[in-house]
Amino acid sequence: MPDTLTKLAYQTFQQGKQTFGFAHKTLSARVMNFISPRQRTEPNRIDPQLLEGLQKSLNSLLETDWQDAEDGVYPKHLLFDNPWDDFLRYYPMVVLDIPAIWERASQKRHQDFATGINTEGYPDYYVQNFHHQTDGYFSDLSANLYDLQVELLFNGSADPMRRRLLKPLKQHIDRLQASQQINTSTPQPVKVLDIACGTGRTLKLMRETLPAAALYGVDLSPAYLRKANQLLSQTDGTLPQLIHANAEALPYLDSYFEAVSSVFLFHELPAAVRQTVIDEAFRVVKPGGVFIICDSIQQEDSPQFAPMMENFPAMFHEPYYRHYTTDNITERLSSAGFERVEVFNFFMSKYWAAYKPAADEAMD
Ligand SMILES: C[S@@+](CC[C@H](N)C(=O)[O-])C[C@H]1O[C@@H](n2cnc3c(N)ncnc32)[C@H](O)[C@@H]1O
Repeated sequence: MPDTLTKLAYQTFQQGKQTFGFAHKTLSARVMNFISPRQRTEPNRIDPQLLEGLQKSLNSLLETDWQDAEDGVYPKHLLFDNPWDDFLRYYPMVVLDIPAIWERASQKRHQDFATGINTEGYPDYYVQNFHHQTDGYFSDLSANLYDLQVELLFNGSADPMRRRLLKPLKQHIDRLQASQQINTSTPQPVKVLDIACGTGRTLKLMRETLPAAALYGVDLSPAYLRKANQLLSQTDGTLPQLIHANAEALPYLDSYFEAVSSVFLFHELPAAVRQTVIDEAFRVVKPGGVFIICDSIQQEDSPQFAPMMENFPAMFHEPYYRHYTTDNITERLSSAGFERVEVFNFFMSKYWAAYKPAADEAMD
C-alpha cells in the first residue's frame, strides 16, 4: 500500500478509536445516571478551549507516532496492532461491569475483592481497586478487561503514548552498539527490562523494535503476567522472561541490563516507593545504560490541563496521583545517581530518559 494510503488508514483507525471512546463514555454516564440518579456527581467542567487543546495535542502525538514508524523506529504494522479478539470478547463484560464499578466508587469501597482473592503478602499501597477496577490487579477478569478499559479511557491513544519510549530506547541501543560497548559478535544479546510490565503491551512493542534483544518483565500481579504471557505468545518472537516480583526489590544482579523502562507505574506508587523503585532501576542498569519512564503529565507541564488532573483522582480511584503530579522525578533520578535526564511530553504522558554514568565516568 502506498504510504499516503497507509497514513490515511492509520488516521482513520485512530479516529474510529476516538469515536468509540467517546461513545463508551456517554454510555457509561447514562448507565450510571440510570442506576443512581441522585448520587450523580458533577466533575469539574471541561471547557471547549481545553477540549480543543486536547485534540491538538492528541493529533500531534499521532503524527509523531506515524513519523517514527515512517523513520523505521518500528514497523508500520505496529500502528494497527489491536487486540481485536479481546475487544469482541470482553467489551460486553466491560459494559456489564459498569454498575459494580459505580457502586464501589459511590460507596468509597476501595479495597473490595471477590471472595477467594488472597491479598496477603502484598504491600498495603497495592491492595486497592485502582481505577475502581473490579478485583484491583488481583484477578484474571481484571487482567482481561484492563487493556480495553485503558484504550477507552484514552480514546485509543495508550499504545501511541507507550510507543514514544521506543525512539530513545532504540537510539540508545544503537549508540551503544556503534561505540562498541556492546560487542555484536558475542552471543550475549542486549538485555532490556520492563518494570511493572502489566499485560505485556510495552514488551510486545519492544520486541518488534529490538528483535534481537532479550526482554524481561516483572510485575506484582500474577494474573497480569499470565495475560502478558498469552499476548506475547500470540505472535512470533522469543518470549520475554516474565517474573512475579516487587519493583522495590528487583530479582536481578547489579548492572545487568542495557536498558530499563517503566510505563504508567509511578503515579500508582506512594512517594517513598517511587524513590525505592528508581534506586532499584539504577542498581540493575549497567553503567552507560538508560532508564526510561513513561507516566502521566504533571501540573508543571500543562497548567491548562490542571482541571483534568484535578478530576482524575476524584473520578478514578488513584490515591497517589495528586502527589505524583507535583513530584520532582528528575530530582529523584539524580539522587539515585543518574546523571543526564531528558524530559519530554506527549499528549497526556510524560517521559524521563535517565542515563547512568558510564564506568570510566564513574571512576573520574
Ligand atoms: C497502570 S498499570 C500499568 C501496566 C503496564 N505497564 C501498562 O503500560 O499498561 C500498573 C502496573 O503496575 C503493577 N505494579 C504496581 N505496583 C507494583 C510493584 N511495587 N511492583 C511491581 N509491579 C507493580 C501493577 O500490577 C500493574 O500491572
